[in-house]
Amino acid sequence: MEKTIDETKQGEHLVLDQKEGNTRKLFIESYGCAMNFSDSEIVASILSDQGFNTTQHLEEADLVLVNTCSIRDKAEQTVRKRLEKYNAVKRINPKMKVGVLGCMAERLKTKFLEEEKIVDLVVGPDAYKDLPNLLAEVDEGRDAINVILSKDETYGDISPVRLNTNGVSAFVSITRGCDNMCTFCVVPFTRGRERSRDPQSIIEEINDLWNKGYKEITLLGQNVDSYLWYGGGLKKDFEKASDMQKATAVGFSSLLAMCADAHPEMRIRFSTSNPQDLTLDVIETMAAYKNICKHIHLPVQSGSNRILKAMNRLHTREEYFALIDNIRRILPECSISQDLISGFPTETEQDHQDTLSLMDYVKYNFGYMFTYSERPGTMAERKLDDDVPEEVKKRRLAEIVQKQREHSEIRTKAYINSIVEVLIERESKKSSNEWSGRTSQNVVAVFPKKHYKVGELVKVKITDCTSATLIGEAI
Ligand code: SAH
Ligand code: F3S
Repeated sequence: MEKTIDETKQGEHLVLDQKEGNTRKLFIESYGCAMNFSDSEIVASILSDQGFNTTQHLEEADLVLVNTCSIRDKAEQTVRKRLEKYNAVKRINPKMKVGVLGCMAERLKTKFLEEEKIVDLVVGPDAYKDLPNLLAEVDEGRDAINVILSKDETYGDISPVRLNTNGVSAFVSITRGCDNMCTFCVVPFTRGRERSRDPQSIIEEINDLWNKGYKEITLLGQNVDSYLWYGGGLKKDFEKASDMQKATAVGFSSLLAMCADAHPEMRIRFSTSNPQDLTLDVIETMAAYKNICKHIHLPVQSGSNRILKAMNRLHTREEYFALIDNIRRILPECSISQDLISGFPTETEQDHQDTLSLMDYVKYNFGYMFTYSERPGTMAERKLDDDVPEEVKKRRLAEIVQKQREHSEIRTKAYINSIVEVLIERESKKSSNEWSGRTSQNVVAVFPKKHYKVGELVKVKITDCTSATLIGEAI
């Protein structure tokens, strides 16, 4: 497995505003996608009202929560290893309780309590509001579990406690679940059916972030372009809504415009877009607003029509190219990134070549690339043999990664001598004399600090670059 989000973000420890009077200590860590990191902020908020402040020291925790990822086998193995570590700590601190949250909790359910003796608490992604009750059970010495998926839970009424924050950028979740049923993917099983959050509560959260000094938000969902608010409930039940509900429904491009209008000085990002749902009006809305960042994460998974079909991706290679052409026409400065999978069942050398040639067509700015990992319960696992040998998957992945590296370099170099706008996020990891931030296109740029401050949007003249980072001077 190469360069996965799981790996880049793995095990970030989280700090939060401490609430006075809280005496219990919560150690919470997250693995996997941005949605998990965002969910941990919701959990921290719920537990803050139950007397918990977070700690960064595992050894002193009363409660340890791990927010887990099931997307690939390796992600699950990482969590199992963490549980071993918790086990060692529990020998020193026997009163410590351990809970598993997120996708593994949902996938394994009671099996977790049977297989991992250390686990006291298992809570699926839609059941976090039940945490106070579940903890009361645990306090009385019983194991507790809630993995019920919901039709309407969006946590729209919870004000997340920002964890591990730079005070500049924050995630705001807008949809939960996914209805796409890509045949390789476990998410529809672990996160349930798709539902959207009330736009009013989204705008309120953004207002609150703006008032606290945040300068950039990322609207989050498994498939943001499929956002549809019609008063609550599952997306699939929209057909049954009243005429009134249908007439006043809010889709993604309208939501995007509402967010952009709410604070013209605030940058808006979104992730992830599924090609089949990304419409022209979203691209046009991006063009109409300066503060909507010009970057689209557009996972394609494969360049072969036969494999796309077997994956139940509901578009062809040609339709994907047409979409890319539209993005390039309407938003010439937009960056595009990918997710790709090598070695899906039955993938031939020709299918793999189709993936490489698709990459040549798009020349993505960056991407996240993986070998196929069979997930229990998915259509692919039930209907197809995982028949591409591991070494073939790895070799194809290496070729994909190599091609991406070349394209990233071409894309990054093209910024040399241009002037870009950078939102300063933090000190550069390489030098304490430099700031690090991102351009609208989501490319990292570093430059001398001078008198500038974190949270400022500055114009930077790019003079040099590495394969993924721009180097310049604020002007
Ligand atoms: N729509 C989601 C996708 C979540 S999964 C989003 O918001 O990003 C992220 C990526 O993991 C997918 O795009 C896919 O490339 C990869 N992935 C999912 N299931 C996988 C599997 N079984 N094996 C390998 N990679 C997988
Ligand atoms: Fe998974 Fe496909 Fe949804 S990758 S999250 S089923 S869009």
